[in-house]
Amino acid sequence: MTVSDAMNRQLNEQIANELGSYYTYLAMSCELFDMGYKVLSKFFSRQAEEERGHAMKFLHYLQEVGSPVRLAALPAPKASFGSPLAIAQGALDQEQIVTRQIHELVALAEKDRDYPTQSFLTWFVDEQVEEVRSMRDLVQLIQRAGDQHLLFAEHRVAQMMAEAAEEDDD
Ligand SMILES: [Fe+2]
Ligand SMILES: [Fe+2]
Repeated sequence: MTVSDAMNRQLNEQIANELGSYYTYLAMSCELFDMGYKVLSKFFSRQAEEERGHAMKFLHYLQEVGSPVRLAALPAPKASFGSPLAIAQGALDQEQIVTRQIHELVALAEKDRDYPTQSFLTWFVDEQVEEVRSMRDLVQLIQRAGDQHLLFAEHRVAQMMAEAAEEDDD
């Protein structure tokens, strides 16, 4: 059992897309660290790790169905966003782009009548709803806090991370 050539290409592309998110969030984490927002920096480094995990899920799936893995070159991430709000908005944009990519994959799997890949992708469809929601929450939090209260807002981010860690334990 294996996937179509078009699906192989698109799944390999998605490995690079997820690693692109990894790289972008890592750059965001470094920029926030340099700005002195250590909690937000940690939030983005954790987010980066999640993206690496997503890439590995795609990679393992290709191996599972006996379809070749081809790793592409990664573009350098944007070096500077300029502010925590611009970073959060950039991350929300990124999650919306990835959501469209996942939906394209689902559409192809449907066209191919590739039921195993459709089933595999279900987790990502649900995950993207959560990722977009959490980045939307972050944009809103940073907007509400404004520059003067951003360091206090970091307490809320720390709380969000603790809650997310608890959910993962369930
Ligand atoms: Fe992802
Ligand atoms: Fe994501």
